[in-house]
Amino acid sequence: MQALAVGYNKGMRTLLTARLANNTESVVLIADNLKDLSTHLGNYGRSVLWVFDTNTAKLFKQLPPAHVVIESGESSKNFASLERIVATALEEGLARDGRIIGFGGGVVCDLAGFAASVYMRGCKLTLVPTTLLAMVDASLGGKTAIDYRGMKNMVGSFYPASEILISIDVLRTLSEREYLNGLGEVLKHALLSSDEALYRFLVTQKNEILSRDAQSLATIVELSLRVKQHYIEQDPTESLGIRQMLNLGHTFGHALESTFHFGLFSHGAAVAWGTCRALEAGVSLGITDRSWADGAIKLFRSYGYDIDYRIGRGDWISFRDHLFKDKKRVDGKLLFVLLEAQGTGVLKVLDTALVQHLVIAKPTF
Ligand code: GLY
Repeated sequence: MQALAVGYNKGMRTLLTARLANNTESVVLIADNLKDLSTHLGNYGRSVLWVFDTNTAKLFKQLPPAHVVIESGESSKNFASLERIVATALEEGLARDGRIIGFGGGVVCDLAGFAASVYMRGCKLTLVPTTLLAMVDASLGGKTAIDYRGMKNMVGSFYPASEILISIDVLRTLSEREYLNGLGEVLKHALLSSDEALYRFLVTQKNEILSRDAQSLATIVELSLRVKQHYIEQDPTESLGIRQMLNLGHTFGHALESTFHFGLFSHGAAVAWGTCRALEAGVSLGITDRSWADGAIKLFRSYGYDIDYRIGRGDWISFRDHLFKDKKRVDGKLLFVLLEAQGTGVLKVLDTALVQHLVIAKPTF
């Protein structure tokens, strides 16, 4: 990929404007290429602090003057990185009307967002998501966080970015695993949409999507963000039981990721797996129509997710313990998102015995 250099002209179009808590707005702008994106970034002037990770910093021939580069990976989402960002912002004289620009995947977006939310009680924030997962999920909706004491996203805030800048061509450089990591959330969004457009597009354009055709990538990003917009605008701070629907597949998925120490399954692959378990749970409780669930599971399978995977009996205790550490508990009960129909989610407490039955491999003897 061509190295980035910050310059000065415009070539971005508005994809959507999400209206969020406290009358804040997040504008999502999309560029056809990195040149237009870098031109837009050049227009911010000098009162900015950039946050990169060691991968995204490599996209620049020369890094902008005020910047922090964190080590790539989840282990950087901690207080030490937060302190580095805040300390550098102070040293660089960033004022309250200055801007933090997070340029990277979900870790950078969550961390830069959290830093912006606490720096002088809140400075401006722009996010430039560079992975599919960050484009369709982490960058929109204002969730910011760091991990604490081994628990993901334990300390954080709601602080929507005023601008989210997307350049589709960065998606072509992602590894297959990273690309599928984001596609898992796209498929999940398709099931959460009562509008058929995204689901149909995923079924009919699978080859184009998997070969990362530019127009198909732009379409899945746009349709997916519109689904997310629908939920977050109604319930920006996840307090009304509406935004929680976006957690479809996550309770099962997080437990799977944690049981295997975040190595075996990427987040999106675990969400794909968890969504299929949620569909099966819905079918067994008579909530989800069996033939629709079968079709949706088939769609996940067709994208190459190992959704037929089951944990061994020996992994159950660890899986169950991770389930009960989940943040999404209410009155000590674990709530799962199930689907009554496409686009109609419902929160249900599931019996541990049913969960065990759904996730464990059946004996073969
Ligand atoms: N990732 C789900 C949400 O933003 O609520």
